[in-house]
Amino acid sequence: MKKLHSISRLLTVPNRSFFLFGPRGVGKSTWLDHALLNAQRFDLLKTDLQVRLSAHPEELESLIGNNPPEWIWIDEVQKVPRLLDEVHRLMEERHLKFALSGSSARKLKREGANLLAGRALTKNMEQFSYGELGHQYNLGRAIQYGLLPLVHLYPEDAAETLQTYVHTYIKEEIKEEGVVRKLDPFLRFLEVAGKLNGQQINASNISRDAMISRSNVDNYFGILSDTLLGHFLSSYRPNLKVREVTHSKFYWFDPGVARAASNLVYEPMDEIWAGTALETIFFHELRVYNEYSKKHRGLFFYRTTQGSEIDFIIELTKQKINKPAEIICIEVKYSKKWKSEWFKPILSLQGRKGINIIKAYGVYMGKEILTYHDLQVLPILTFLEKLFKGHIF
Ligand SMILES: Nc1ncnc2c1ncn2[C@@H]1O[C@H](COP(=O)(O)OP(=O)(O)OP(=O)(O)O)[C@@H](O)[C@H]1O
Ligand SMILES: [Mg+2]
Repeated sequence: MKKLHSISRLLTVPNRSFFLFGPRGVGKSTWLDHALLNAQRFDLLKTDLQVRLSAHPEELESLIGNNPPEWIWIDEVQKVPRLLDEVHRLMEERHLKFALSGSSARKLKREGANLLAGRALTKNMEQFSYGELGHQYNLGRAIQYGLLPLVHLYPEDAAETLQTYVHTYIKEEIKEEGVVRKLDPFLRFLEVAGKLNGQQINASNISRDAMISRSNVDNYFGILSDTLLGHFLSSYRPNLKVREVTHSKFYWFDPGVARAASNLVYEPMDEIWAGTALETIFFHELRVYNEYSKKHRGLFFYRTTQGSEIDFIIELTKQKINKPAEIICIEVKYSKKWKSEWFKPILSLQGRKGINIIKAYGVYMGKEILTYHDLQVLPILTFLEKLFKGHIF
């Protein structure tokens, strides 16, 4: 019998083999279990199976047998990268369809695994989104604890769940995989990186605060990004002639996880943190929509040398020789009242050569829709509703 699957996901099953990557605990196995009817599942978390297939990948074929179902599902595929050679062969020779899920492509890539040379699609899953939760979406809680399925389902245990989540990540993704030579510097880094969620990366400050070498700062951010715990947001540079500050920002995938990583999950949340958390969930929703709608537009922020900033830029079309780039600008504020001056950075970008601002939005915690000339201010949930209806881009 299938397990209870209460919240349906936006992802749909592709018609050919695919990888499904996503951070731990976002619901990959639950979704595959539900979406792939009668799939034959190989769960590589099971030690005996893992040991057996590591030693003899060719035994996969005999385990599959002569009457395979439509889908073969290998869960936690990163545990046995070598198995992908066998998968490749079975796809070619027996035209079998594979679903290959795991928490990140990092280990597969590092071990030089055969990533099936484009024969399989790559799909990504994240924690719940507005597009999935609809009226069950609780904004206040999402800002405070994020949207991991277990956090959403059992809000009373949210803080504990998040703390455990970070410990499990450290144990299973970092320690057991031997990702770093020494654990202590990485743990100090995690705490600092959690606190700096949503800020531009300043490697020398982080190096000093976490007492780690400058080169480890890059290395560790690479690990967070490869294990899908966070995402870089680059600054938008439509034409390189103008001098801009170019350092990327780093957003954790989920504000609850960032808070637990920085050991603040049991502390009351201040306004500044709430503001960053709001941006973090906003960026998450943009990523989820971008993936599920298959639009794959570039997402950026914008910062001038004067220090003014636009939170999010969605690049609809790139700049061409005779045509400016087309973009959407969005300013996100954790405030119930909107101030017209918050549009200044967007207005300063308007009319810049090479850029055409197609739409601009302010997104806030207020209840009313406001308009300032061409600029619209929307309550966040109104914006998200429009986003998932395809009315924004
Ligand atoms: N769509 C859903 N509806 C209700 N509960 C869900 C849903 N998806 C996941 N959950 C709950 O969240 C928990 C984590 O989900 P799941 O094990 O599927 O995540 P995962 O991405 O496979 O994690 P891992 O990388 O650790 O294997 C499960 O215990 C499940 O009960
Ligand atoms: Mg799983």
